[in-house]
Amino acid sequence: MNSNYLQRQPLAGNLIPKPVRVEKGKGPFSLTPKTEIVIPAESPAIGEIGAQLAAILAPLGGTPLKVSVCSGPPPEGSICLNTGSYPQLGAEGYRLEVGPNLVSLSANEPGGLFYGVQTIKQLFSSGPKGGPGLIEGVIIEDFPRFSWRGAMLDVARNFFSVQDVKGFIRYLAAYKFNRLHLHLSNDQGWRIMINSWPNLALHGGSGAVSGGRSGYYSQEEYSEIVAYAQSKQIIVVPEIDLPGHTTAALASYPELNRKGIAPPLYSGTEVGFSSLAPEKDLTYRFVSDVLEELAALTPGPYLHVGGDEALSTTPEEYEIFMSQLQPIVARLGKTMIGWGEIAHTPLQAGTIVQIWRREEIDAKKAAAQGVQVIMSPAYRAYMDMKYNESTKLGLSWAGLIKVEDAYNWDPAEVHALVPQNKILGVEAVLWTETIRTMADLENMVFPRLAGYAEIGWSPRKNRSWEEYRYRLAAHGRSWEKENINFYRCPEVPWGEQV
Ligand code: ACM
Repeated sequence: MNSNYLQRQPLAGNLIPKPVRVEKGKGPFSLTPKTEIVIPAESPAIGEIGAQLAAILAPLGGTPLKVSVCSGPPPEGSICLNTGSYPQLGAEGYRLEVGPNLVSLSANEPGGLFYGVQTIKQLFSSGPKGGPGLIEGVIIEDFPRFSWRGAMLDVARNFFSVQDVKGFIRYLAAYKFNRLHLHLSNDQGWRIMINSWPNLALHGGSGAVSGGRSGYYSQEEYSEIVAYAQSKQIIVVPEIDLPGHTTAALASYPELNRKGIAPPLYSGTEVGFSSLAPEKDLTYRFVSDVLEELAALTPGPYLHVGGDEALSTTPEEYEIFMSQLQPIVARLGKTMIGWGEIAHTPLQAGTIVQIWRREEIDAKKAAAQGVQVIMSPAYRAYMDMKYNESTKLGLSWAGLIKVEDAYNWDPAEVHALVPQNKILGVEAVLWTETIRTMADLENMVFPRLAGYAEIGWSPRKNRSWEEYRYRLAAHGRSWEKENINFYRCPEVPWGEQV
């Protein structure tokens, strides 16, 4: 049964994202109670990845696998992780060779080993149903197309607990994403404790979109999220949305308001009506204090400052605000990211623009300034858009996004004027005006998330919807086992065994 099963499978099963190169190897390899994971020398980073692999394989092997250090040739039947020098693989790539007596995973950096481990996990989970832990012989050489493979979660409209965010991080990690953009503030809520302005969290954190969850992360909790993400090779990109989308802040401190009067907390879903006061010195002290605390808590190199839909500032005021904001971010040693609108003001070299709407205009402006861009075109990459008219959750202002449409586009083709070498990658975005629970989140994110992962990782020439949808169906079977509440779209053959 096992060998028949393996013959019917496409080579290397149903991996998503699809690897760069796959060849037939000498396997199959079977997990046994004696299988060990071996790492080359005492290295905490590799040891941690070995321990994660052991935890992934424990349910398949029957007993927890031992992780041991080995300086000589790896013992028969082991899974061996090692780092070396592989110029073709880059910082995030890996090489995986599955033979009958050895699985050998190699990379330049621990990050590459981590991605190889995700591949091993998928190979085992597409194995025979209920059968032993068995994988076919393959040789895989794999590395990402883009360095930015991100997802954004809006915790401002609807708050998600640390546990929930960790769950989202696990989903991202399984598909080789490497950025989690946390949208930490908006009109409806402020989600991180800032010690120098505590009312932001204490008052601003008590708001939410109507019917949504309120709350905020203590600094310790935020650090816990960041560390958890880091253990899965994901950099957290915190966003404080400025100068618009700021009712939660304005409601917490009257003195930040143009007229010195705090508005009430806001639980609606309109946009563009709130703004910090660009003419006030206090505004910049506030921004500087907030970003300074956030930067100190954030080991990653980025601060996202929003900049979108600042519809109640004039273009002149917006430009003044941005001209004062940029040196603050620079002083903190961080790279500034902002939504497409920031491309309309003069940007310091090194700034990153996240294209979301008005691709034509904003991308052209960004291209003219020579800055790098992240592609999140709303009509393709916004996971809060409904799949079709009968989708219960979500919005539709950017269009309905079928699973096929979420997959069938390319960051390099969003705007012809953006040079290829300025495209950092792709980010899928989840706004939460209509999302409350993890089950809601899962229903909008799955299955589209897997497609964004492949867009970000796999070579363009390897991608085809007709073939991808069968691989996606196999992932549906894994999601079923994990009780993930994914949307069973009609264009994917979920029930068919391939
Ligand atoms: C956005 O969707 N307002 C960036």
